[in-house]
Amino acid sequence: MHVAEVEEPHAGPGEIRITVRASGLSTGETLIRSGALRDVVPVTLPHRTGMEAAGVVDEVGDGVTGVGVGDEVFGMTDPSARGANADYAVLVAWAPRPAAWSWEEAGGAAGGVETATRVLDRLAVGAGHTVLVQGAAGGVGTIAVQLAVARGAAVIGTASEHNHDFLRSLGAVPTTYGPGLAGRVRGLAANGVDAVFDCAGGALPDLIEIVGDAARVVTIAADLTAAAHGVHLSHGAPADRTGTALGAGADPLAVHGLATAVTLADAGRLRVPVAAAFPLDEIAAAHELSETRHARGKIVLVH
Ligand SMILES: NC(=O)c1ccc[n+]([C@@H]2O[C@H](COP(=O)([O-])OP(=O)(O)OC[C@H]3O[C@@H](n4cnc5c(N)ncnc54)[C@H](OP(=O)(O)O)[C@@H]3O)[C@@H](O)[C@H]2O)c1
Repeated sequence: MHVAEVEEPHAGPGEIRITVRASGLSTGETLIRSGALRDVVPVTLPHRTGMEAAGVVDEVGDGVTGVGVGDEVFGMTDPSARGANADYAVLVAWAPRPAAWSWEEAGGAAGGVETATRVLDRLAVGAGHTVLVQGAAGGVGTIAVQLAVARGAAVIGTASEHNHDFLRSLGAVPTTYGPGLAGRVRGLAANGVDAVFDCAGGALPDLIEIVGDAARVVTIAADLTAAAHGVHLSHGAPADRTGTALGAGADPLAVHGLATAVTLADAGRLRVPVAAAFPLDEIAAAHELSETRHARGKIVLVH
């Protein structure tokens, strides 16, 4: 993995191009890079990385309204095109950069916001519900906790003990993952758990036991046992592609979550905890940190 010169991309119809100030490391890309996902996410080499970025608009494609050259935005690339870890990125969904977010926070926001919104929508999480977020201290989990709290849910989040105060600061009741989880959660959720958002994988039988119904568990981790357990593994594709071979089994990208995130950020109710920020040319080191599976929050690249 290295930084290389390539032809610069341009905004097509319905797209914008930004000069990137910061972009996110998408955790799944470490699995793609290692080859672990070669049977489910085949790629053609050379492969460009990055699905989320923040920066300044410098091209506006045909048909785009409401945004202009010079605006500061954050957003997502087309998941099949990627290329956000670059000087210029073409975005298919975006929102204004909240004043409260640094470039680093904005650059790492869109993927977690979209993913968490997609899963919370599917689980119909709302006021009065109790939600368990497994892997709550990671890039997606930290956003999922805050979005669920903002919906009025009570949230139990799992993480290693040293991250428990951090989870409390996001609004979750913390507990550790691993053996005995069901008993610990029973002790914390007097009226039971309504939904489980699994950001970690590897513990689906325990998670199903906790909620009592596999249909109330959604995982985003590349846990290839999900189907055998009757659990939905959510991955996103643009709404017009979910029925095609490229988007087979995908849920439509929940890009409406970006606007909600701005409202919450402006109200001081959503932050993007940044685990570490690397210069773009140290992207290999950023992947190494991600592969530890213990980054607290989001790993970002600064440009
Ligand atoms: N399908 C999709 O649409 C989609 C979208 C985004 C991400 N993903 C996938 O979702 C997963 C989460 O992504 P992410 O960016 O949040 O990952 P991440 O930031 O790398 O997650 C790190 C967190 O995982 C926790 N963790 C490590 N092992 C765990 C375990 N056995 N059980 C519970 N938690 C554990 C760690 O907690 P402690 O350090 O406290 O132990 C750490 O806070 C990845 O597999 C990623 O590829 C899928």
